[in-house]
Amino acid sequence: MPTDPTTEPLRFAYWVPNVSGGLVTSTIEQRTDWSYDYNLKLARLAEQAGFEYALSQVRYTASYGAEFQHESTSFSLALLLGTERLKLIAAVHPGLWHPAVLAKWVATADHLSKGRVAVNVVSGWFADEFRQLGEPWLEHDERYRRTAEFITALKRIWTEDEANLAGDFYRIRDFSLKPKPLSWPGRPHPEIFQGGNSSAARRNGGQLSDWYFSNGKDFDGVREQLTDLAKHAAAVGRADGPRFGLNGFVIVRDTEKEAKEQLREIIANAHVEAVEGFGSAVKQAGQSTGDKKGMWADSSFEDLVQYNDGFRTQLIGTPEQVATRIVEYRKIGVDLILAGFLHYHEEVERFGRDVLPIVRELEVAAGLDPSALPDPVPGRQRAPQRRPPSHHGQV
Ligand SMILES: Cc1cc2nc3c(=O)[nH]c(=O)nc-3n(C[C@H](O)[C@H](O)[C@H](O)COP(=O)(O)O)c2cc1C
Repeated sequence: MPTDPTTEPLRFAYWVPNVSGGLVTSTIEQRTDWSYDYNLKLARLAEQAGFEYALSQVRYTASYGAEFQHESTSFSLALLLGTERLKLIAAVHPGLWHPAVLAKWVATADHLSKGRVAVNVVSGWFADEFRQLGEPWLEHDERYRRTAEFITALKRIWTEDEANLAGDFYRIRDFSLKPKPLSWPGRPHPEIFQGGNSSAARRNGGQLSDWYFSNGKDFDGVREQLTDLAKHAAAVGRADGPRFGLNGFVIVRDTEKEAKEQLREIIANAHVEAVEGFGSAVKQAGQSTGDKKGMWADSSFEDLVQYNDGFRTQLIGTPEQVATRIVEYRKIGVDLILAGFLHYHEEVERFGRDVLPIVRELEVAAGLDPSALPDPVPGRQRAPQRRPPSHHGQV
């Protein structure tokens, strides 16, 4: 279930540009860089601006418009060590990691960062990457069955003294992870996000993950997924189903006309061959399933220029317009906005300065997020504190 918007604020994450080519597959100028120095500065700017999370991408080899890539877990750890509050979500593929090896990495990264690491478990669409690495490429729903085992294994290893799993994909015998990652009330283990929107992904999200990430969607596209997620959560008696994160490519300009013109230019300069190549490769995702649900199942060429359908969320306009639309998403159950930008440094700063204050004002005006108010509202609880304990180790 999404969080209660009257007791928790909307959260913000940004896509870490750890692969080259920026967040849009376009030859338009992007003042964004995939280097560590650029990203360290960005991470510091983002935490100052009010972003709570950053999501790194996992890519092992050149894909469409991403010729160079930094590895997601090591890059995430480097950013964690260079920041103070930002949480890093490292993307990982079941099938390329053994869950116990990843669980160990996360435990160490969690101690080093004082409880700020999370993972995004992605089931994959890029068959050629697996082929190049010599790993089997499973059929779509089998990939999700493996992901379900992977998430189950992570949770057991992180929370049980001696973890066991006799699965079809992974086997763990009396495995005792020491030290465990940090934990405190509300955070029994590092948060598990999952990327994927197909029916199989919704089932995994509803039943197992802490967070469900959606590609860019309009309001109906969000509602439809929320309904499904609630159904899957209820089926396993899970009262607190996953929180909902929505991707959106953000273009904030002084006027609506300028913002729309920027979008038009991005699309007019699309790298046609790369977008078409990507469009054909992602047929390995939801489109390959019986019910044809899932990411990119109905994406147009224009949608695919932002490779996670980010234009569809329509966070494009003046600061007021973008903030208003964001709060409308909050009202229907979105818990987190995952933002991408054309010129990261300057636009992340501007987002924090011009858009976020309006979002917080609108939340309060709509009776949402009492933690944004100067004093507690009588009869209502303050947002639960989600800070790590002040000392190392488990609580
Ligand atoms: C927010 C988000 C981030 C993702 N990040 C990655 C990534 O870094 N690497 C990757 O190979 N796939 C990534 N994916 C794609 C997933 O691996 C998966 O192929 C995709 O979600 C299609 O799933 P579906 O068929 O269930 O809709 C991401 C998906 C989402 C929603």
